[in-house]
Amino acid sequence: MRMVDIIAKKRDGGELTTEEIQFLVTGYTDGTIPDYQMSAWAMAVFFRGMTPRETGDLTMAMAGSGEQLDLSSLSGIKVDKHSTGGVGDKTTLVVAPLVAAAGIPVAKMSGRGLGYSGGTIDKLESFAGFAVERSREQFLQQVRDIGVSVIGQSGNLTPADKKLYALRDVTATVEAVPLIASSIMSKKIAAGADAILLDVKVGKGAFMKSIEEAEVLAKAMVDIGTQVGRKTVAVISDMNQPLGFAVGNALEVKEAIDTLAGKGPRDLTELALAIGSRMLVLGGLVEDEQSGRAKLEEIMASGKAVEKLAQMVEAQGGDKSDVYETSRLPKAAIIHELVASEDGYVAQIDAEAVGHASVVLGAGRLTKEMAIDLAVGMVLHKKRGDQVKAGDILMTIHANKEELLASALQELEGAIVLSTKPPVDQPLIYKIIG
Ligand code: URA
Repeated sequence: MRMVDIIAKKRDGGELTTEEIQFLVTGYTDGTIPDYQMSAWAMAVFFRGMTPRETGDLTMAMAGSGEQLDLSSLSGIKVDKHSTGGVGDKTTLVVAPLVAAAGIPVAKMSGRGLGYSGGTIDKLESFAGFAVERSREQFLQQVRDIGVSVIGQSGNLTPADKKLYALRDVTATVEAVPLIASSIMSKKIAAGADAILLDVKVGKGAFMKSIEEAEVLAKAMVDIGTQVGRKTVAVISDMNQPLGFAVGNALEVKEAIDTLAGKGPRDLTELALAIGSRMLVLGGLVEDEQSGRAKLEEIMASGKAVEKLAQMVEAQGGDKSDVYETSRLPKAAIIHELVASEDGYVAQIDAEAVGHASVVLGAGRLTKEMAIDLAVGMVLHKKRGDQVKAGDILMTIHANKEELLASALQELEGAIVLSTKPPVDQPLIYKIIG
């Protein structure tokens, strides 16, 4: 088999065989296929696309390109959750302990933040001493003992995707749906998922800017799941404004704990219940979403959800008092209030601008190596549709350096738009696929 023939076949609109896809993934991973041939192939896919069968084959070949996690020693259906990323998206911090408290085993690998969208692993490090690197045995044992563990992604998971993603980034081939879908799904499958719940974000603060684009990606991922025997459901949710009120690592942890106690923001609570209840259905614990939701609401109200997070923090080397006394979490030195200059309604809170401002404050990183400040970020006091009076606080900014606060304020200029009339309602969840 020759890579040049595979490139030509795809360039001319042909459908690659399973063997051809396996050949190119293996060859690219071991270095026998060079970057320039892989780039040409990725560009051919960008223009010609892939059939669902080809996309499924690419996913499984990438999933098999490195280490794979075997979760079969854990009883029950292992349901994983993945978000395509957004601003203030702390849903995993809520959903993981919540569904674990309901009886679904959660053995989850999560990522760090990059650019303006945050990452669960960074957020968890707000708990002093919390270990995100665990041996495979420690990780599985913790799930057997307490039902939940969230750790960083193992270095040798899907090396083919790691290489191909870096190549796509510099060859203008990131935005190809079969490549995005197989990239995400290969990581979930290598991480041992039996069933997968995808939260596809759409809007100003997301990778997918239109509902149509988000739907195409969601369908492609659900198709892959179906092809390869993993039940997959995708929720398409709004990311035009930040999720919840808090943006920034420790601030988001505090908000997640409030939500686990049933006292969180409406949108975050609703999304966590929508996702969590569907995970209970996928895990075979309940018949339908309504029963799942009722169960999860009961768990929140009983204090068991907060307790499950505290158990996880303790098991991974942190102090569970941090969960019950959130004043112990990292705190910023400077609190700056942004106030409304006129009466009106909040018509828009630009999630992307808020995300960029949080990076400027130090909450996120622009390169993988950058250190972050866990304490900084912002807390919104108003959300889209809320009525405000001149002088009302719109947002508090938590900073540790005056000069970074000044730069963040520049980023935030024009981010919150007021109108004289209430804006039309925007749904939190646009569609459920699968
Ligand atoms: N996230 C991924 O993991 N892969 C992509 O290709 C795009 C977003």
